Amino acid sequence: MKAIVVYESHWGNTAAIAQAIAEGIGPEAQAMSTADATAEVVAAAELIVAGAPLLGFNLPTDMMVKGLSSETAKGGPPPDLSHPTMRAWLDALPKGAGRAAAFETKISWSPGSSSKAILGKLKEKGYREAAKPERFVVKDRYGPLKEGELERAKAWGAELAKAA
Ligand SMILES: Cc1cc2nc3c(=O)[nH]c(=O)nc-3n(C[C@H](O)[C@H](O)[C@H](O)COP(=O)(O)O)c2cc1C
Repeated sequence: MKAIVVYESHWGNTAAIAQAIAEGIGPEAQAMSTADATAEVVAAAELIVAGAPLLGFNLPTDMMVKGLSSETAKGGPPPDLSHPTMRAWLDALPKGAGRAAAFETKISWSPGSSSKAILGKLKEKGYREAAKPERFVVKDRYGPLKEGELERAKAWGAELAKAA
């Protein structure tokens, strides 16, 4: 099925989950950042899956992301700040009527949900819920992902394809 898995990701965890979800959906699914998911690309997709990290208990705002440049794991690469936030991407998303699902990466104990916020915004734009919002867990502030989360993401992608 023609699907896109669109992500905001600064340290790579959400991007890795997006890639695994796309693999689970099938060969016609593609993972891409918010920068690459143009209106044209969105219009050609039968299923839109969108994901972002939970930062500050919330779907990241532009203002929060602007302040992330000094946030980096010891010895790790700087955060990727090259693509729009999921929030900005959703604000600019044209109205649609297709199916959509949402996911997030987060620390297990934290309150707040990016995926619920994303799905709510997709529904406001006219998209229909393809699945309940899903969360994937990291072990620490900048990751890595908990063991088994990539496999779970792939399985979730396969379920999405079946349901849609
Ligand atoms: C500045 C900052 C704030 C964060 N705030 C939260 C939070 O409120 N709740 C949470 O569960 N995780 C929080 N995290 C952890 C991130 O959600 C987690 O590392 C996520 O997987 C990052 O995704 P990315 O690698 O795709 O950017 C925070 C991390 C950073 C660096």
